[in-house]
Amino acid sequence: MIKIAKLSEIPMNGCKNFEISGKKIAIYNVSGRIYAADSECSHMKGPLCKGRILSQDGNQYVQCPWHGATFNLETGEAMSGPTRKPIRVYKIKIEKDEIFVELTD
Ligand code: FES
Repeated sequence: MIKIAKLSEIPMNGCKNFEISGKKIAIYNVSGRIYAADSECSHMKGPLCKGRILSQDGNQYVQCPWHGATFNLETGEAMSGPTRKPIRVYKIKIEKDEIFVELTD
């Protein structure tokens, strides 16, 4: 696992972009739960970090600000919008104030 950010850097109910080992990753803090996912939309590379975060039935989603594709932040699954292609999500680990991600291909 690779250290990517400090927990305190990620705004509550917000997101911040990082680039690590050539991968563009957005880290989200949704009511204290941390998620890591591709920062670019699988449709046309829209900036997901600028999208709305939605909560429904205990699941968290991000909605692309460009054409509205919605992705499950836990699984990366595309739930609605112009694409069914998922985004990658990354396993994370938190130790003290530091967030680590497991980079996969
Ligand atoms: S770029 Fe995200 S929905 Fe089109």
